[in-house]
Amino acid sequence: MSEFKPGLEGVVAFETEIAEPDRDGGALRYRGVDIEELVGVVPFEKVWGLLVDDRPEPGLTPAEPYRADGLTGNAPADLQAVTAHLGGEWGLGQLIDISDGQAEADLRRLSATMISVAAQSARVADGNHVPVDPGVIAQGRTAAERFLLEWRGEADPKHVQAIDTYWICTAEHGLNASTFTARVVASTGADCAACLSSAVGALSGPLHGGAPARVLPMLDGAAAAGSVEGYVGNLLDSGERLMGFGHRVYRAEDPRARLLRDTARKLGSPRFAVAEELERVALAELHRRKPDRVLATNVEFWSAVVLDVADIPPRLAPAMFACSRTAGWSAHIMEQKRLGRLVRPAARYVGPGARPLASV
Ligand SMILES: CC(C)(COP(=O)(O)OP(=O)(O)OC[C@H]1O[C@@H](n2cnc3c(N)ncnc32)[C@H](O)[C@@H]1OP(=O)(O)O)[C@@H](O)C(=O)NCCC(=O)NCCS
Repeated sequence: MSEFKPGLEGVVAFETEIAEPDRDGGALRYRGVDIEELVGVVPFEKVWGLLVDDRPEPGLTPAEPYRADGLTGNAPADLQAVTAHLGGEWGLGQLIDISDGQAEADLRRLSATMISVAAQSARVADGNHVPVDPGVIAQGRTAAERFLLEWRGEADPKHVQAIDTYWICTAEHGLNASTFTARVVASTGADCAACLSSAVGALSGPLHGGAPARVLPMLDGAAAAGSVEGYVGNLLDSGERLMGFGHRVYRAEDPRARLLRDTARKLGSPRFAVAEELERVALAELHRRKPDRVLATNVEFWSAVVLDVADIPPRLAPAMFACSRTAGWSAHIMEQKRLGRLVRPAARYVGPGARPLASV
């Protein structure tokens, strides 16, 4: 049996042709295309097509109108439940029984509907239980615009751009916890709804999808403290980590941080000045304290600022992440379907030796 690695860190479980984080060059490529070439050039739905189908067209087509019942306003819980439910309601076939074309059609339909359900759940969380007229939603030209129309009944162009950029930057990033989950479930031959719903469950934990929620309070703390240097120094002296800095994969600046910083500046984020100042002070202080490590800005820091431009409350960050990851998850589900191999790792038994029941 091979060496035990807690958390499977560094264990290569799959080969993939989908995303390539270039850890030393600070680049991220989707099927070979640098994300810097995508942002602002094609909308998220075409990136969905590139990732899932290796071509932007037709990409993620608009959702057919779907009214989700019994939403709670807790977006990850709503998404997980409704997505699982859709498998039964739509009578989806199991991956092992359907063609690649059918699986891709199911994933396209599910992804578009999940984004719609996230918007409906956000609307319920705002206390508004009257859905937006489907005719209004259909006027949206992009997935981000339709999402905002379905949530708020209106779509400010700046908010659309903020969400579109965030969705593109976070659409796929190799084998994290939720993508691994999607592949494990796909490997059992389950239907696409079961795969995507399980991935949402994995994403709902704060260690995976919720970090942006912790960045904004830090920015507020820095602004209130008067001295950003003093604030950062105090945090580090008390043994806390600076949210939005450091990364397991990148040993250079996270390219997504660069793109999202540019977007926050272009869109006139009211928090841009304090965020930039905090970033400058944090990088200098982390470098001073850990000269041997590269502790650069990661995707979560500027994601929080960009989502804030679109007035997305921090509690909605995991659901926003789930919307973008419908692309990466779908691509990996297809790759796993083609691989056709059940995921079945081993556990080393370290419990008690054989003993009689009476001794327990
Ligand atoms: C993302 C993260 C888990 C990556 O961890 P990693 O590269 O494996 O680094 P480690 O956890 O092994 O930390 C290495 C050292 O750098 C320090 N360090 C790493 N990130 C730090 C941060 N954001 N603030 C302060 N110190 C940090 C650690 O305290 C540790 O110091 P030590 O060697 O004295 O114990 C880590 O950088 C972190 O916790 N960042 C803050 C949370 C965050 O932004 N999460 C979103 C990630 S996309």
